[in-house]
Amino acid sequence: MTTIEAAAQSTTQNNRKKTVLSGIQPTGILHIGNYIGALSVWVANQHLYNNLFMIANLHALTIPEAVKANELRENARRVAALYIAAGLDPKEVVIFLQSDVPAHAYLAWILTCCTPMGWLERMTQFKTKASQSETVGTGLFTYPALQAADILIYKADYVPVGDDQNQHVEITRDIAQRFNSLFGEVFPLPGTLNRSSGARVMGLDDPTAKMSKSIAETRKSHAISLLDTPSTIKKAIMSAVTDAGSETRFEHASPGVKNLLTIYEVMSGEERSAIEEKFVGKGYGFLKRELLDLVVRTLEPIQTRYKEIREREGYLDELLAQGAARASAIADKTLEEVRRLTGV
Ligand code: AMP
Ligand code: TRP
Repeated sequence: MTTIEAAAQSTTQNNRKKTVLSGIQPTGILHIGNYIGALSVWVANQHLYNNLFMIANLHALTIPEAVKANELRENARRVAALYIAAGLDPKEVVIFLQSDVPAHAYLAWILTCCTPMGWLERMTQFKTKASQSETVGTGLFTYPALQAADILIYKADYVPVGDDQNQHVEITRDIAQRFNSLFGEVFPLPGTLNRSSGARVMGLDDPTAKMSKSIAETRKSHAISLLDTPSTIKKAIMSAVTDAGSETRFEHASPGVKNLLTIYEVMSGEERSAIEEKFVGKGYGFLKRELLDLVVRTLEPIQTRYKEIREREGYLDELLAQGAARASAIADKTLEEVRRLTGV
């Protein structure tokens, strides 16, 4: 695992611009966990790297019971619009739908053949999701091989994600090494890029569980979506779980309070010591009101840009078509190498 600060240093130590790839599944509206753990990191570092950001719509099919074609299409467009609204510069980065670059699925098959079942059986995300479904599709099991293909097809150096995805980046390295030793050195080994603080935002209503899109569908005050109105945000923050005390130091706070402090820290960009000084002895009501104000101020410009983007006729279609063409040009080259080495 590389922290963002260390990675930023290493881009300036040699001349070659490193490649970054990441993605988000279009399974619902993005929440502040996605924003803090992933999207805001992409935005902050976009000028340092060659960047590819995809909308992982093929991964969304791994639980097919949850998918309706029209919703998947609409969600994918929403995610693309939110990428730009959050600050990704389409001139600087390549934004595309995973399904528009068929080389991902092609390479995924080849990598699946190089992946021992035991590695996949150890994946915690698979174990959790499989335990929640009655029938488990094979695609849910081989999900990490497709994610490895997403990353390796661009020979990415870094994968900026929340820390729940670290195991998937680790297995990507293992799969790359196995391919390289079986067929020849093609793939560099990618590293994870995590925030040092905010890599796992917890549920507001349950600070023992990661904030997640699927829980947010049934529990209103679990998450804050990037498109929530100020009054919805207010309900979620004011009802967030805290404790009976008044401890607001990061190291000593209870999990719910620490989660609120961490969201405040990341969105404000202030030092921990300044934050602790600001909130000491003021009670959780004050912390919540300040956080509410900050979250609303952070999301407001994103929501305004989002609306503008959605109203621009044809804009997203063109952007995604261009993104797919730029991504395919890189992906097809890697696939050609892989075809040559494997003999298919
Ligand atoms: P997903 O919603 O599972 O497609 O996740 C998209 C990205 O957001 C991945 O990089 C995740 O690691 C990140 N992410 C999801 N939930 C959280 C969370 N609660 N805190 C921090 N990062 C998250
Ligand atoms: N599995 C990731 C998630 O649920 C989404 C994803 C798919 C991804 N392919 C990727 C993330 C490649 C990083 C790189 O969050």
